[in-house]
Amino acid sequence: MSNSSEAELIHKFKGITFTTRSSPELLKSLDAFDAREDDVLLVSYPKSGTHWLAGVITKLYNTQVTLTSPIEFGDISKLEELNKLSSKRIIPTHLDYNMLPQNFKNKNCKMIYISRNPKDTAVSMYHYYRDNPNLPTIDTWTAFFDLFLKGDVVCGSWFDHFLSWEAHKNDKNILFLFYEDMKKDLPKMIKEISLFLDLNVSDNDIQDISKKSSFSEMKRDTEKENSDPSHTVCSLTSNRKLIFRKGAVGDWKNHFTPKQNRRFEEIFNEKMKLSKM
Ligand code: A3P
Repeated sequence: MSNSSEAELIHKFKGITFTTRSSPELLKSLDAFDAREDDVLLVSYPKSGTHWLAGVITKLYNTQVTLTSPIEFGDISKLEELNKLSSKRIIPTHLDYNMLPQNFKNKNCKMIYISRNPKDTAVSMYHYYRDNPNLPTIDTWTAFFDLFLKGDVVCGSWFDHFLSWEAHKNDKNILFLFYEDMKKDLPKMIKEISLFLDLNVSDNDIQDISKKSSFSEMKRDTEKENSDPSHTVCSLTSNRKLIFRKGAVGDWKNHFTPKQNRRFEEIFNEKMKLSKM
């Protein structure tokens, strides 16, 4: 990572790395956020399929909903901006559970957490770092691999993020999803999401949404939209074209050396000792 640009691009808040696109003032004031009972939160560690899930959710509603930018993205005016929205809000976030504004918890807002094999997440994030001018420069995959395992990347440690949310996976207002399950059987997962959101969606509509949410369709749509910043649901870029890279399961095998794989597994087993998943 080149140190000269780092300070301009990232900062730490409560020990977690954020880009400077999330202002410290906003992060400090998140607990003042006024949640509404019908808010839906779309939660993820970066590069876990956030945009894919957002695409599915917005297509499921036939009433007016607003997909906002992530709650932690912007400056202090963000809270006011979200307050002004009159329609139902779908709010993305990469915050870990402990940093989530308390009001969402008090009001039992529905939250959908999407997770992905951390090895594929690491590879996806590596490419994202390389292509995204809002993130520090990464010289090699090996250097990024070490940073990822240390949790020294934006949004902190994958393990801490996952564990903070997993502790709440049985809460009635939280639905836990996996990227790999969406790849395996998207219509089935869309059905599960629609039931969780109390939406009545026909099988035909589910098939239709599934087709429109394929990787190739979403990538094509993005190219047509010409990177409309209001369509980004990641706090790390406004450039949607950076999001749709490969959309595959198992790309880690093209990057990890056998030694890196052993080290990852060791750390995974140690950190995830308390995980039930
Ligand atoms: P890759 O970099 O492995 O291709 P996020 O939206 O959380 O930033 O996640 C981005 C990752 O999700 C990228 O992974 C992207 O290609 C993948 N993705 C986005 N839309 C997808 C889709 N419709 N189907 C499968 N993967 C998708």
